[in-house]
Amino acid sequence: MLVSILESVFLSVALFKGTLASVAYCNNKDYESGALGISPHQTYNAAPFSPVQLNFALPPADCPANSETEGYFFFYPLDLVSLELYGMILNPNGTLVGAIPGFLRGLQKYNGTDHIAVWLGVGSPNAGGHGDGYNLLIDNTYSVVANFTTVNLGVGADIHELQVTPSNTAIMTAYPSQAANLSAYGGPEDGYIYNSAFQEVDIATGKALVTWQPLGQVDPSECYAAIGQAGNGTFDDPWDYFHINSVQKQDDGNYLVSSRHCHALYLLDSTGDIIWRMGGEKSNFNFSEGANFTWQHHARIHDSSTLSVFNNGAFQSEQDFPYSQGLLLNFDSSNREVSLINARSPFNRTVTTSQGSVQLLENGESIIGWGSIPSFSQHDRDGNIKWSAQFASEADIISSYRVFLHNWVGRPTTPPSMQISNTSTLTNVTVYAWWNGATEITAWKLFGSTALSPLLPVYLNAVSKVDFETTLTYTGDHDEGFAFFQVAAMNANGEYLGYSNFSSLDGSTTMTKADNQTVTAPPL
Ligand SMILES: *[C@@H]1O[C@H](CO)[C@@H](O)[C@H](O)[C@H]1NC(C)=O
Ligand SMILES: *[C@@H]1O[C@H](CO)[C@@H](O)[C@H](O)[C@H]1NC(C)=O
Ligand SMILES: *[C@@H]1O[C@H](CO)[C@@H](O)[C@H](O)[C@H]1NC(C)=O
Ligand SMILES: *[C@@H]1O[C@H](CO)[C@@H](O)[C@H](O)[C@H]1NC(C)=O
Ligand SMILES: *[C@@H]1O[C@H](CO)[C@@H](O)[C@H](O)[C@H]1NC(C)=O
Ligand SMILES: *[C@@H]1O[C@H](CO)[C@@H](O)[C@H](O)[C@H]1NC(C)=O
Ligand SMILES: *[C@@H]1O[C@H](CO)[C@@H](O)[C@H](O)[C@H]1NC(C)=O
Ligand SMILES: *[C@@H]1O[C@H](CO)[C@@H](O)[C@H](O)[C@H]1NC(C)=O
Ligand SMILES: *[C@@H]1O[C@H](CO)[C@@H](O)[C@H](O)[C@H]1NC(C)=O
Ligand SMILES: *[C@@H]1O[C@H](CO)[C@@H](O)[C@H](O)[C@H]1NC(C)=O
Ligand SMILES: *[C@@H]1O[C@H](CO)[C@@H](O)[C@H](O)[C@H]1NC(C)=O
Ligand SMILES: *[C@@H]1O[C@H](CO)[C@@H](O)[C@H](O)[C@H]1NC(C)=O
Repeated sequence: MLVSILESVFLSVALFKGTLASVAYCNNKDYESGALGISPHQTYNAAPFSPVQLNFALPPADCPANSETEGYFFFYPLDLVSLELYGMILNPNGTLVGAIPGFLRGLQKYNGTDHIAVWLGVGSPNAGGHGDGYNLLIDNTYSVVANFTTVNLGVGADIHELQVTPSNTAIMTAYPSQAANLSAYGGPEDGYIYNSAFQEVDIATGKALVTWQPLGQVDPSECYAAIGQAGNGTFDDPWDYFHINSVQKQDDGNYLVSSRHCHALYLLDSTGDIIWRMGGEKSNFNFSEGANFTWQHHARIHDSSTLSVFNNGAFQSEQDFPYSQGLLLNFDSSNREVSLINARSPFNRTVTTSQGSVQLLENGESIIGWGSIPSFSQHDRDGNIKWSAQFASEADIISSYRVFLHNWVGRPTTPPSMQISNTSTLTNVTVYAWWNGATEITAWKLFGSTALSPLLPVYLNAVSKVDFETTLTYTGDHDEGFAFFQVAAMNANGEYLGYSNFSSLDGSTTMTKADNQTVTAPPL
């Protein structure tokens, strides 16, 4: 039985006073200075969500519409202040489209179609931490179609990576630890070390096909995060010498692995043997100016000679570069040379000490997630910045591991939600309507029904949708003595996408719609 992921979204989310639901700010100095708070949030009259409020610190020309950006932002703003518990799908203008419980990873193609990927589990997902949990794939009706994790490693899937391959396998990272004599590295003789792994698992059967761990091939002496800096080497706090943070299976069966703490990318063959090291102490490649990186994230090969990587260039208090950048690199596998194609710089020229992402769009433009700096930006084909949006005013406390721009059509199987404001008179009824995750709504219709025929709705009026929550009102112009109200979500063609339950005026009685009140939009 398929479970809708949205049924579990009603977590105890604290509602925030402050900004009301709205589009992004444009170059709002009070936001930037922190005068609006560390983490300004949108709020609604009734919908139980409080997504981050965006501020375009570097605004697009048509701010806040941002109409040249097509798709939706997918990210998980971990907020150590309010402990935000859901990932977000936002419009380019900053309004909410969907709140997804769990660590939202963006989209993955599974069985040929786009699915939302979410990680759930224990651990600290951001701030350099790792986790022990599992991954879900969610289809465009928000039904969970797959639930899988790593096997026989002692720990479940970690947050750092999930890649679903064209053969419907999943590449996942995991952080198993093991006992080790660390005295050669300045740690305890009876110490513990993370042998951070990746595993390729067949999604349908849950069977592990390939497991790879670095110890034995990459000696800790090649790496840069000392004992004490990345774990003190004890059972409770193993040394994270390697810190795997991205893995990408190539079409030819090789794997590209990123080790943040060894400052290197590794190309492995299908048996896990290292073909080459790029970066770090034993690099097989030479770098021309501007192409080197340290403490990096999110490495992706795009063709036989192009790769992208987020160069943090910094870790804790160490800083190797003036600021972090999203790099597009050319690499020559036979001459073992790496050169810079172009770089994406943060508009604020700041350094990102953890996390970060580079998404190359089909048109050659890119979206950079600035990790521990709570912002993301779009860049043109040459890497020039087009706009930069922040989702908090203070670094590190609020961050996002990766940020993606994706097209998406969502049609939840759960009905739209509504809430009637407390009212004792039929001459002033206020109804709030929303439908978490539905992407096609352009308008809402309001219906009323009588106590005698509660499932026979009478059309009252319609309102265009411009934000996540829409307010509809009834002022008694049809003197029908309505006892119940209902809303319907409409698409741009005027077709019905869904009907809410009927609700009595005081909200105490709800009824589902009649079976013959049918949706008219063709199924997805
Ligand atoms: C830009 O960086 C400065 C200095 O770190 C900081 O004070 C300011 O808040 C930043 N602005 C934004 C929009 O991030
Ligand atoms: C993949 O899609 C096909 C039809 O396109 C369907 O028959 C099959 O059940 C799907 N498999 C999985 C694992 O979802
Ligand atoms: C996914 O599987 C895990 C066990 O690995 C289970 O605890 C969890 O409830 C499942 N989640 C869903 C949404 O099916
Ligand atoms: C631990 O390693 C050190 C040097 O690397 C060695 O001298 C020592 O004997 C080892 N201890 C044990 C218990 O194997
Ligand atoms: C090692 O780290 C753990 C947890 O981070 C801490 O409880 C412990 O006190 C540390 N031990 C030493 C010797 O620093
Ligand atoms: C890198 O350059 C140095 C100095 O030119 C050279 O000795 C070395 O062989 C080169 N390494 C590679 C992998 O090309
Ligand atoms: C990166 O390369 C430049 C030369 O192109 C060099 O000056 C710099 O030290 C390198 N940075 C690091 C952190 O290795
Ligand atoms: C609609 O009503 C049904 C039956 O009373 C209830 O189970 C369901 O949770 C309601 N859904 C919404 C979105 O209010
Ligand atoms: C309506 O008012 C009653 C009594 O004041 C209160 O208990 C209830 O929570 C209110 N309902 C809504 C939806 O505001
Ligand atoms: C109608 O109700 C709304 C919300 O409950 C309230 O804000 C408004 O003042 C009311 N208007 C009148 C005319 O009573
Ligand atoms: C925000 O953008 C969405 C998608 O383009 C649009 O439907 C909505 O009307 C916009 N909202 C506002 C308030 O401009
Ligand atoms: C649904 O069925 C009822 C009873 O048969 C009928 O009165 C009503 O008109 C129907 N509604 C629609 C939307 O067809």
